[in-house]
Amino acid sequence: MATAKMAKAKKTKTVFFCTDCGADTPRWMGKCPSCGAWNTLTEEKVRPAAKGGRARGGFGGAGGGGIAPRSPVTPLSEVRPEDAARTSCGIGELDRVLGGGVVAGSAILLGGDPGIGKSTLLMQALAGLATAEARALYVSGEESAAQIALRARRLAVDTRDVLVQATTDLEEVEDTLAKEKPGVVVIDSVQTLRSGSLESVAGSVSQIREVASRLIEIAKREGVTLFLIGHVTKEGMLAGPKVLEHLVDTVLAFEGDASGAFRLVRANKNRFGAAHEVGVFEMVQDGLREVPDPSALFLAERPERAAGSVVVPTAEGSRPLLVEIQALLASAVYGNARRVVSGVDSSRVAILLAVLDKKAGIHALDQDVFISVTGGARIDERAAELPLALAMVSSLRERPLPPDLVAFGEVGLAGEIRAVPRAGQRLQEAQKLGFTRAILPAGNLDRLNGDAPKGMKLVGVRSLEEALIAAF
Ligand code: TYD
Ligand code: MG
Repeated sequence: MATAKMAKAKKTKTVFFCTDCGADTPRWMGKCPSCGAWNTLTEEKVRPAAKGGRARGGFGGAGGGGIAPRSPVTPLSEVRPEDAARTSCGIGELDRVLGGGVVAGSAILLGGDPGIGKSTLLMQALAGLATAEARALYVSGEESAAQIALRARRLAVDTRDVLVQATTDLEEVEDTLAKEKPGVVVIDSVQTLRSGSLESVAGSVSQIREVASRLIEIAKREGVTLFLIGHVTKEGMLAGPKVLEHLVDTVLAFEGDASGAFRLVRANKNRFGAAHEVGVFEMVQDGLREVPDPSALFLAERPERAAGSVVVPTAEGSRPLLVEIQALLASAVYGNARRVVSGVDSSRVAILLAVLDKKAGIHALDQDVFISVTGGARIDERAAELPLALAMVSSLRERPLPPDLVAFGEVGLAGEIRAVPRAGQRLQEAQKLGFTRAILPAGNLDRLNGDAPKGMKLVGVRSLEEALIAAF
């Protein structure tokens, strides 16, 4: 009788998980009932955990039965907003992206292409955070302990207080956490860990959800800083359910061209600091080196007087950053014109080509268009639209722009140029690097007042046409 019951409890069932939001349903459907995405449900075998298996902490517990509240309710005015205590990881650029250091008990997800340097960066950070009282734990499901030791030696980091465990078993990691009580943990990667309580394979939606939520629960309860390394899909999205991004406090993306030297760490979400902060690194012989003055580096190899090149002062994080946009337009030979775009949103390029055509009399819709942002950077800002348009016109006309010119501004569908945030900071960064002229939205120029850097020639423009006249 008892054995029959046990067998029943252990029976696996088939569940369908949405790869987008992580919701589960017992039946297959074309459309996820939770987030509405199409064709995202995948079949996974799940063995439900034994009833009452995991204690949920807190008081009362089994048989407590009292009415003691588990989480106190407090008037908001009486809660003291103590600043979360932050610890420096010894890497200034990473600290800044995180909002000024790591917060104990927070969970940070770092995503990026293979070979970009995720394991390297977090080994460096881990060594910086490890102390004799709060040791660090590096869990790798991808490499052996010897391989990790080899990397650490190459990085020449202090590994006295760094523990390493090569495993793919979540329960083993939980045991280690309970036994060693580390202050900071790196999981490399969340897709390689697997819990025995589910039957599905490592990396499946149900496993990622389980692994992440159980580790995060421990991190919050014990005040452990948790770094999760995540793989990304071909499209550059974090592999696994979106719910993973909701579970963690901070989502960092490691960007850049794995073959190039520059790497950017960007905060896409941050509960403990500003999002969109960008840190710049360079991959060298002994690991990732911070780049304290990235603008100069991004512009170092800029061609003199080349058509199609425009410098943009971006301001996505707290620090303005100068990057170069390059455009190459060439007559399409066969049929449809090609659009090969990297570093900016390709639909923006299509819109700008249409606006140039309709509103500024620049006909380039039949051209092959190639766009790139140098240094492997990515610009997600609307402020890059005006310089992008200028770069395309410059290439089309084979007319270089003045080498000491920067431009920024949003382009509306009517061809109008709209103001963007933080014009003053952009101009100051441009001036610092020796630029003496700027084309900017008239709306920004009017409101600059004291922020305008002295000695810079500023031209405010209201439309694309005005911008083209000012530039050429
Ligand atoms: P890695 O951190 O293993 O990348 P990921 O974990 O994101 O897959 O390292 C990426 C690359 O960096 C690897 O191909 C070798 C190179 N590298 C260096 O150039 N210098 C170094 O000091 C280290 C450790 C790696
Ligand atoms: Mg790795």
